[in-house]
Amino acid sequence: MASSQRLLAAGLGRPIARALRVPSLAVRRKSGPYGYTQAKALVFSKPGEPADVLSLHSHSISPSLPSSSVLVRSLAAPINPADINTVQGTYGAKPPFTSLIGTPEPSATPGNEGVFEVLSSSSPDFAKGDWVIPAISQFGTWRTHAVAEASKFIKVDKQGLSPLQVATVSVNPCTAYRILRHYGPNAGVKAGLGMRPLEVGSGEWFIQNGANSGVGRAAIQFGRLWGLRSINVVRERETEEATLALRRELESLGADVVVTESQFMSREWRDRLAEITRGGREQVGLGLNCVGGKSATAVARSLGEGATMVTYGGMAKQPVALPVGLLIFKDIRFLGFWLSKWNEKDVKGRKHMINDILSLIRAGKFQDVPVDEVKWDWDTEESTLRDAVQGGLQGFRKGKGVFVFGET
Ligand SMILES: NC(=O)c1ccc[n+]([C@@H]2O[C@H](COP(=O)([O-])OP(=O)(O)OC[C@H]3O[C@@H](n4cnc5c(N)ncnc54)[C@H](OP(=O)(O)O)[C@@H]3O)[C@@H](O)[C@H]2O)c1
Repeated sequence: MASSQRLLAAGLGRPIARALRVPSLAVRRKSGPYGYTQAKALVFSKPGEPADVLSLHSHSISPSLPSSSVLVRSLAAPINPADINTVQGTYGAKPPFTSLIGTPEPSATPGNEGVFEVLSSSSPDFAKGDWVIPAISQFGTWRTHAVAEASKFIKVDKQGLSPLQVATVSVNPCTAYRILRHYGPNAGVKAGLGMRPLEVGSGEWFIQNGANSGVGRAAIQFGRLWGLRSINVVRERETEEATLALRRELESLGADVVVTESQFMSREWRDRLAEITRGGREQVGLGLNCVGGKSATAVARSLGEGATMVTYGGMAKQPVALPVGLLIFKDIRFLGFWLSKWNEKDVKGRKHMINDILSLIRAGKFQDVPVDEVKWDWDTEESTLRDAVQGGLQGFRKGKGVFVFGET
């Protein structure tokens, strides 16, 4: 492969190869010498804690675009748990370290999702002012600007949407959408999506831990839209009022039942579950687990005969332990789910899904996740950005950290 092709394949592009040793607080000229765009990116050169390994790198982008390429500026980019795991080196995909933007050591830019505005394009598919999201995993969205082949972007209809809504659509809502559509009892049929669901249990209930996560909130809403009922497990907040407020928040999204983790782990849970499922006449056909450890075991124990449990995250960093009887006597299926794999397999379906979710947002039928905005302007200090990433895995947050780009 020619070197320019390699650069573009990495989502970076030939024009960025010229690095500027500009300190992060330098006064910025919008356009550098000879029309170069000045840009910044968070980078890491070895796995580790974000506070230790992330740094802010300045570089410049040539005004001459290769053919079929697009120059974009960032509008918003979330800090998802998987992004932090990528920096830590514990994620399933490891971005290659390269020298494409002139970092002293080969490096990678983290960030799996975000929304960009097109500044210029040599592809007829994109025009100045369009909004685009990455078409590929591990694009590296924690940067002010990027140049990439047009095929690395998906154009979105920005009508009636905010950058935050578009920036947070392609990972968490899509994960909930895919899992419920594919594994939810009859969900695909009910949503009229023309996809045959797997035969997984007979009930219309599903149960999930981490119910206040981005994925959990999306699952509640899709479940409600598609005729499924949800049992939602959350961790207690510091005060009863705060726990109640969280319960009300999830109920307002469509949660049928919200229980705290300590209620869920208690001896009384069995009776409560029997009450919810009308003495066992209804079944919980699907369990979603993003926590692991004891919480995952309790999810598994709450499932009905022939149900499916899908593990898609491991926030507690503890293994999933499964009672043998659930496998043998209840015939429960335990599966893992990774959105990146689905995206690779079904590119057309992904576009359809994203457009479907954006339409629901426009129609006021789907609410995006609460966010904690982290302003990223030209003179924002490296430590501010690094700390925001480091804090992203802390529990009991009020909102998901999202970089919101100003005048960069
Ligand atoms: N497999 C896939 O394709 C895929 C796709 C998207 C996301 N995920 C995974 O799904 C999970 C949730 O992601 P997200 O972006 O939706 O999360 P998020 O919005 O950032 O929320 C984090 C969630 O994790 C909970 N949590 C944090 N630390 C915890 C701990 N030590 N024990 C138990 N719960 C804890 C939080 O509960 P509190 O509020 O109580 O702290 C909150 O519910 C992550 O593991 C992520 O990697 C996987």
